[in-house]
Amino acid sequence: MHLTRQAIAERIKEIDVVIELLDARLPGSSANPLLAELTGSKPKLKLLNKQDLADPERTTDWLAYYNGLPATRAIGLDASETAPAQRLIDACRALAPLRGGMAKPLRVLICGIPNVGKSTLINTLTGKRATKTGDEAGITKVEQRIVLASDFYLFDTPGMLWPRIIVEKSGYNLAASGAVGRNAFNEEEVALELLAYLKLHYPQALIDRYKLDAVSNFDDEALLTEIGRKRGALQSGGRINLQKAAEVVVYDFRAGNLGRITLETPDEFATWLAAGQLIEAERALKKKKRTRSDA
Ligand code: G4P
Repeated sequence: MHLTRQAIAERIKEIDVVIELLDARLPGSSANPLLAELTGSKPKLKLLNKQDLADPERTTDWLAYYNGLPATRAIGLDASETAPAQRLIDACRALAPLRGGMAKPLRVLICGIPNVGKSTLINTLTGKRATKTGDEAGITKVEQRIVLASDFYLFDTPGMLWPRIIVEKSGYNLAASGAVGRNAFNEEEVALELLAYLKLHYPQALIDRYKLDAVSNFDDEALLTEIGRKRGALQSGGRINLQKAAEVVVYDFRAGNLGRITLETPDEFATWLAAGQLIEAERALKKKKRTRSDA
């Protein structure tokens, strides 16, 4: 079940603070643009989750970036924190200081893309044993209200529509993280994009994991082929099975086997977003012209 645009807009009217769970490895790309549009100036708490998998220096940069935005606070988090409730409650209370007490309980909405760790966090908050989840997107839940303190209600959204992804790199980063289902993306393309970024920003991680002498002498496809060779991803005739090699790379990234990695900085994401918006505006203009000439 997905909440529609209208349903979210209605829901948000009665909410004091919106908690957005982001993937600390791709904070910009894991933010739902529709949420930003619908929540407007409501106070926001950005939770950079899975920080255990992300590059700590970059997490610090992202936290500073978000904490510099109006009516916004940001916290880094991961599932190893056994009692995160108080930190969350304190941050939300600071964002809505006029709410609190039985007459005006603080109403908080928690949102996040699939696989970002929302059920794990909610289970920790409610003290339930983590329910078994698949590592693919799309497990649905029913909306629930969680009482974290007598005057603090947390509302969990079952899922939210995602507008068309206009930032090309975001699509690849979301696919690499496992937020979008396997069928939506070509794994080889995702691995090639991932390798191109890692080669530039985390070359040592690739050298160490795949026992390479260097990475700069390979183009992306040659690098994927070499990783396939090292990992024994072969097909008949001794050729390298690039699909298998791609699965190895994507799996290693998701599992943290490449070390702590973040696929975007605030500046990079801003550049990608501006480029995506420009393409989108040109597309809209062309469409408008076409409609006019058809009329
Ligand atoms: P969702 O409700 O947002 O869709 O996400 P969910 O909690 O189901 O978590 C998705 C996957 O991410 C799970 O792994 C979960 O264990 C893992 N996860 C959640 N929080 C963290 C975190 O802070 N750090 C790390 N490294 N992983 C986290 P899974 O492989 O799908 O399941 P399982 O291995 O836990 O059974």
